Amino acid sequence: MMAVEQDRRARNVRLASGDAFSRRDPFVIGDQLSFPLDMFSVPHHYKGDVKEIMIPHGLVIDRIQKLAKDIRHDYADTTIHLLCVLKGGSAYFQDLITALRRFHDHADHSYVPFTFDFIKVKSYKGVSSTGSVQITGGDLAALEGKNVLVVEDIIDTGLTMESLLPVLEARGANSVRVTSLLEKRTELSSGFRGHYVGFSIPDKFVVGYCLDFNEFFRDMDHICVISDRGIERFTEETR
Ligand code: HPA
Ligand code: MG
Repeated sequence: MMAVEQDRRARNVRLASGDAFSRRDPFVIGDQLSFPLDMFSVPHHYKGDVKEIMIPHGLVIDRIQKLAKDIRHDYADTTIHLLCVLKGGSAYFQDLITALRRFHDHADHSYVPFTFDFIKVKSYKGVSSTGSVQITGGDLAALEGKNVLVVEDIIDTGLTMESLLPVLEARGANSVRVTSLLEKRTELSSGFRGHYVGFSIPDKFVVGYCLDFNEFFRDMDHICVISDRGIERFTEETR
């Protein structure tokens, strides 16, 4: 009952462009919630490099099934253009399209045809709070008239999305929304909120499921909190 209530509750949130929209609340991972490492299978080559499991892989997949349903509901019978932000967003993207494709089998219900593209985004904090952004790969000219859904792994400060969205809107997209698997509760947040967010997580550095620390940990299924030893071991030597 509580979950249903929470699901239906729509909140007005402010987008970078100033458009008001409503979103469903993400599932909140509490500050103290963690799953013990010895109860789940963690890759041998990362033993000791992670402190705890924050979100087991199975739970990630379960949540994505529901995000796909929410997207189906809101975009019923509309073709969307998924714009996957590499590299971190790639695992979420793959599991999301797997879930969306499954709806195609049931033509008697609404479903969501989709096209997709991949981009890499680098954001720089400029003098203004919005900063600037460098986008590589992907065909931005193809966005004209499309219903764009940006697929991200994590919204942390929100700087990347604050910079990216105006660029996509300027390309003449019919609509631009953001789905992010994770959203961090950090004081450094710009206030940016995604439309379809899987989990609200504590202010900890997470790795796994394509989220990296210096390119490591992408090959781990669970979303975990990095340990001091992991930071030390995978910090690049800068000389
Ligand atoms: N983990 C990995 N990549 C990130 C994070 C994080 O917590 N925040 C922003 N990018
Ligand atoms: Mg990264």
